Amino acid sequence: MFARSARGREAIEFVPHRRENEHLQVLAVTNFKGGSGKTTTSAHLAQYLALQGYRVLAVDLDPQASLSALLGVLPELNVGHNETLYAAIRYDEDRRPLGDVIRNTYFDGLDLVPGNLELMEFEHTTPKALADGSASDGGAIFFARIASALDDVADDYDVVVIDCPPQLGFLTLSGLCAATSMIVTVHPQMLDVSSMSQFLLMTRDLLGVVRDAGGQLKFDFVRYLLTRYEPQDAPQTKVVALLRNLFDDHVLTNPMVKSAAISDAGLTKQTLYEIGPGNLTRSTYDRAMESLSAVNGEIEELMRAAWGRS
Ligand SMILES: Nc1ncnc2c1ncn2[C@@H]1O[C@H](COP(=O)(O)OP(=O)(O)OP(=O)(O)O)[C@@H](O)[C@H]1O
Ligand SMILES: [Mg+2]
Repeated sequence: MFARSARGREAIEFVPHRRENEHLQVLAVTNFKGGSGKTTTSAHLAQYLALQGYRVLAVDLDPQASLSALLGVLPELNVGHNETLYAAIRYDEDRRPLGDVIRNTYFDGLDLVPGNLELMEFEHTTPKALADGSASDGGAIFFARIASALDDVADDYDVVVIDCPPQLGFLTLSGLCAATSMIVTVHPQMLDVSSMSQFLLMTRDLLGVVRDAGGQLKFDFVRYLLTRYEPQDAPQTKVVALLRNLFDDHVLTNPMVKSAAISDAGLTKQTLYEIGPGNLTRSTYDRAMESLSAVNGEIEELMRAAWGRS
């Protein structure tokens, strides 16, 4: 049951969302700490998986739409009205099937649901829909809407990678509820780690609300990924040791190291897979690529294990 209003006079019956296509892996890359490497991780993982031959859908859940830009779709220029994920999860009659807003990218095997500022509408319309009882219009309650939208295209993909915005609103919550696994990106600095703890506490509380409302949440895996790591930086290595101590093998073995190859590529809205060695020294490029392959390979292994193939 989900409380319909703050006064709680009426409640909306919630029918637990059943994923119809169990084969589909939906991986959310999340953390509300800005700049923790979510988008960089999402873009490189999505391209890596496509290169391995998986059919991949990248979903940009962030109104800032950096993932779209990184994958070649400029949110201000190339994404029009009702052409983001919002189109498929909105409550009114302008709702469209998710397939309508999926685009090919120039990367074989990788499609994209782009984002732009329009996604913010979901944060505004959800409280209204909850208050006036229309929160289940067109099918699912707010936190099940992304899962429900994905069901429509589940046969077309093996993996969905969701790049979450750096806040814990209705979009993120709905994204996490659609996810079958979660990567929490963390830059190993003390301030970032304390903000991550806040994120985890809030996520736990919110997902508890969803559970109480009858939502079924089960993740195949949840892992922390160390990002922009500088192994030669003593304070960072201390934080990494602390995290490994606290979270044990929930921290991915391979960190993503900090590299000018990644940040330089980002400046021209490209990934490491696209730029190639170019102007970089070979060793800079190779080190970054090695770290990237190790991280992505480790995540792929977790997915294969979840599929029961490993
Ligand atoms: N391994 C890396 N080495 C060097 N720079 C990196 C690395 N990973 C990410 N960056 C840079 O750090 C910045 C933030 O990364 P990114 O945009 O992926 O973070 P984010 O968590 O998605 O941010 P936001 O919270 O704003 O969405 C970018 O400029 C990116 O190029
Ligand atoms: Mg981002």
